[in-house]
Amino acid sequence: MRETFLPFAKPSIAQDGIDEVVNCIKSGWLTIGPKTIAFEQVFKDFTTSPYCIGVNSATAGLHLALMALGIGKGDEVITTPMTFASTVNTIILAGATPVLADIDRRTLNIVPANIEAKITPKTKAIMPVHFAGRPCDMKAIKEIAKKHNLIIIEDAAHALGAKYQGERIGKTEGKNAVVFSFHPTKNITTGEGGMVCLSDEAAAEAVYIMRQNGMSKGAWNRYAAKGKTHYDISLLGLKYNMLDIQAAIGISQMKQLDYFNKRRTEIVAKYMDAFKDTKGLILPAPVNKGDLHSWHIFTPLIDTEVLNITRDEFMKLMGEQNIGTALHYQAIPTFSYYQKAFGWNVKDYPEAEYVGEHIVSLPLFPAMTEQDVEDVINTTKQILKEHLK
Ligand SMILES: Cc1ncc(COP(=O)(O)O)c(C=O)c1O
Repeated sequence: MRETFLPFAKPSIAQDGIDEVVNCIKSGWLTIGPKTIAFEQVFKDFTTSPYCIGVNSATAGLHLALMALGIGKGDEVITTPMTFASTVNTIILAGATPVLADIDRRTLNIVPANIEAKITPKTKAIMPVHFAGRPCDMKAIKEIAKKHNLIIIEDAAHALGAKYQGERIGKTEGKNAVVFSFHPTKNITTGEGGMVCLSDEAAAEAVYIMRQNGMSKGAWNRYAAKGKTHYDISLLGLKYNMLDIQAAIGISQMKQLDYFNKRRTEIVAKYMDAFKDTKGLILPAPVNKGDLHSWHIFTPLIDTEVLNITRDEFMKLMGEQNIGTALHYQAIPTFSYYQKAFGWNVKDYPEAEYVGEHIVSLPLFPAMTEQDVEDVINTTKQILKEHLK
C-alpha cells in the first residue's frame, strides 16, 4: 500500500504564477482590472474568438451566455443527462426549461439523433458538454442547429486545449458561445474561474455588463486614474466577474497548457496500454481521427457483469489503498430536485443511467510521477483480479 494518499487531481502552479499573485496583491488592485484584460487577450489569441470574457466560474459563464443570448422564459434548451449540475442549473436559473437527450456510453457524449428527437417549437438552444475533453460530434450538432435555427452553447468546462476535426474548441461563430472552467481539477486553474467565448458583439457587450451587476462601467473604469465615477444600470446582472488575482494565476497556467495536456495524454496512454486486457474495466473509446482529446479526467467503467463488487465498493477499496478516485457523474435525473421539478425518471435515459452507476475517475494530473501512475495501475489490477466472479 502507498504510504501517502494520492488524490484524483491536483493543480500545478508555477513560480511565475505565484509571483504574479503576490505582485497583484502588493499592487493594491485585486479585483477585475489589467490582469483580467491581459488573460482575456491570451484567450482571444488562443481561441481566435473575438470576445473572451473572464468570469468567476464556468457556472457564472454558462448563466451569462444564456442570458446574453436571450434564452429565458418559455424556451427549451437541450442538454445531456451526463454532466455536472451547473449545466442544467444555469438553464433553469435563466428561466428556461432543460430537456435531456441521452448519451452514448462509449463516448459519454450527447447523441445528435437524440437531440433531434427532443426538438419542439419551444427549443431555442443546444448545450452539448465535451465530456472529459472528448469533442462532441459538432458537425452533426451544427447541422441540427442550422436546420432548426438554434443557438449552440458549448459547455467546454473539460475541453481546454481539445480540438474537433483540427479546429480548437473555443472558436465561435455567429451567435454561438463556448464556456471554459478553471476549477482546480480542470486542465488549467485560476482557483475558481471561467471564460465565455463569443463572436456576437451584442451578446459579448451584454456579458461584459451583466458580469458586474449590469453596470455600464466596471470598477476599473470607475476607480482607476482616468475613470469616471457615474454609471448606468443598463441590464439586469450579477456579480460574476473574474478577479485580477485569478487572472494572474491563469496567465501563468496558459503558458503551461500545452505541457499539461501532453502529460495528461501520456498518462492516459499508459493506463490504456496497461489495462487493455484487464477484466472488469471498460476503457474509454478510441479518440476519433482528427480530434484532440484534452483528458481532463480518465473515466473507465467498472464492469459489474464480471465482478462481484459495485463501482462504489471499488472506489472504497482504492481509498483503503491510499488512492483517491472520484465520481463524474451521477446521472442528472437521479437527483431529487430535478425529479420533483420536471418529473424526470432516470429509466428514460438508459445510457446515462448505466454510466452513472459504473463510471469512475482514476487519478490524472500533470504532476503525477511514474511511481504514482504505476501505483494506480497495480492497485486497480489487484482489486479487480481479487473480485472477479
Ligand atoms: C461539465 C461541467 N460544466 C460546468 C461546470 C462548472 O464549472 P465551475 O466549477 O467552474 O463553475 C463543471 C465543473 O465541474 C463541469 O464539469
